[in-house]
Amino acid sequence: MSAPAAPAHPRHDELVALAREAMARAYAPYSRFRVGAALLTADGAVVTGCNVENAAYPSGICAERGAVAAAVAQGRRDFALLVLATEGAEPAPPCGMCRQVLVEFAPALPIVSVTADGRAERWSMAELLPRPFTPAWLAGD
Ligand code: THU
Repeated sequence: MSAPAAPAHPRHDELVALAREAMARAYAPYSRFRVGAALLTADGAVVTGCNVENAAYPSGICAERGAVAAAVAQGRRDFALLVLATEGAEPAPPCGMCRQVLVEFAPALPIVSVTADGRAERWSMAELLPRPFTPAWLAGD
């Protein structure tokens, strides 16, 4: 028998709805892969982001990094949960660059990703980025 699934976060439905709202505002005319992120912060606020692409392709930014930048600009650096919404067939994990940006602030972050038809997967940051490069390396500890 497989282990029982972790219980959903009490604010799961709200965060999924906010991630989907952000996804609907994504600007993704080149990939047509829209992504929305809802970042729950330790003080209970939710900061959202969506991917914003650009005609100069590498200038585009992912939903997760948009959410992190917005949260930090609001003085919120303590993240409790990230919920992602995409239109992919399977729940999509954050890309490598977003994992690196997230781990800077939240090495124990739980990440939930949902599809349009409501399938969800949950990962820990440690699962997604097992040997992270963190600020501690620069401090030499
Ligand atoms: N994308 C994200 O927003 N987050 C990810 O973690 C994966 C990729 C965006 C970037 C680009 O706009 C589109 O999805 C296709 O790669």
